[in-house]
Amino acid sequence: MENKTFYIETYGCQMNVNDSEVVAAIMKTAGYRLTERMTEADMIFINTCSIRENAEQRVWGRLDVFRLEKRRNPGLLVGVLGCMAERLKKQFLEKGIVDMVVGPDAYRELPLLVAEAEAGQKGINVLLSCEETYADISPVRMDKNGVSAFVSIMRGCNNMCAYCVVPYTRGAERSRHPESILREIRELFAQGYREVTLLGQNVNSYSWASDAVNLNFAQLLEQVAQINPLLRVRFATSHPKDMSDELLFTMAKYPNICRHIHLPVQSGSTRMLELMNRKYTREIYLERIAKIREILPDTAISTDIIAGFCTESLDDHNDTLSLMKEVGFDQAFMFQYSERPNTKAARHLKDDVPPEEKTRCLNEIIALHNKLSLQANKKEIGQQREVLVEGLSKRSDEALFGRTSQNKVVIFPKKDYRIGDYVQVRIERCSSATLFGVPLD
Ligand code: SAH
Ligand code: SF4
Ligand code: F3S
Repeated sequence: MENKTFYIETYGCQMNVNDSEVVAAIMKTAGYRLTERMTEADMIFINTCSIRENAEQRVWGRLDVFRLEKRRNPGLLVGVLGCMAERLKKQFLEKGIVDMVVGPDAYRELPLLVAEAEAGQKGINVLLSCEETYADISPVRMDKNGVSAFVSIMRGCNNMCAYCVVPYTRGAERSRHPESILREIRELFAQGYREVTLLGQNVNSYSWASDAVNLNFAQLLEQVAQINPLLRVRFATSHPKDMSDELLFTMAKYPNICRHIHLPVQSGSTRMLELMNRKYTREIYLERIAKIREILPDTAISTDIIAGFCTESLDDHNDTLSLMKEVGFDQAFMFQYSERPNTKAARHLKDDVPPEEKTRCLNEIIALHNKLSLQANKKEIGQQREVLVEGLSKRSDEALFGRTSQNKVVIFPKKDYRIGDYVQVRIERCSSATLFGVPLD
């Protein structure tokens, strides 16, 4: 008999993307075949995100599409995975079209739940674990370029930022065995990968202490960097409160650790940061930025910003704008505050900034950021940068795109270069999001 096929759609963060690769590996081992076409699938999985209301809305919209698909193909099974499965639990099963609900720590159970669903019994497993890291599972890479891969080094989060749903959907923080991380990365390099991004909600608090091995994040990063000088190493996300000098000195020692740090600030107002439970002040954040610039002068800094958190005043908002000007972020992900049920903020604070005010503040933040990132990119003009080629440019078959160590996208003429090559490029012009250059060989 032909193997049954599964199709998987992924929403949310890179960790979810990597989890879908773990799910694909588990399903393949159990004898199922991955398909890229929803219409030929025997089962559809949707890996979901709860971070903001609109992330959840998108998933409800997709479930409506799957409902139609199920009408066409009545044997079709639908499984909801990930953070929304964890948050809403049984509510999905009551929806009728959903056959399986599986939380982020229960993916090993998926083949069993599929078998039960095939027998007509709806299945749910949303147990969170204190140990699961899927350390032994080699993710099925779905990125396709074969150059750049994500590697989870930890799961969960212990930080309890007041606005955030992640500690509830992903459970407690746990680090993955260093040997399994290093093994996975060595294999990736042998397969031709030239860049890995180490993933966790707060990678700086990575910690392994057992089997006679004691390792913090800086030490793990050093071991990864030593695998091969041709392997670029990135990591995300760093929490400002845990950004150590040791880590910066380790980065300085290895040119293959990329000169880019994602350091979400959330707000430039110390009053807001305290309400958000971020455990640093504006001054501490700026001091960390100064330290990065001192130890690693050529490093790009990106951030996340939330507009309109509970009780935010015009003064608080202006503090965010002034901090942005002071730092000059190279890249930023900017959001309106979206209250998530059961978080600290939902239980104890009032979501009292009117929606139109949130939008106005966000737009102001975005406009300022576009101006600042254009300024930052203009400083790149005339520089020579090493670019790792990732693929053909979306706009032209005659051009390639890749990234600099600073994580800036560069577009340049194709010549004879191939995906996975390192090319020296001189930057000639830029927009606020992209650099354009010419190869220097
Ligand atoms: N672990 C990372 C970020 C995880 S979520 C960190 O600590 O920085 C990614 C970003 O989504 C956050 O940095 C924050 O800016 C945003 N975010 C999280 N919860 C949100 C909410 N309820 N409303 C709006 N934005 C939110
Ligand atoms: Fe959420 Fe804060 Fe944890 Fe990031 S560090 S995942 S924002 S609780
Ligand atoms: Fe979303 Fe869960 Fe990631 S809520 S941002 S998918 S950890």
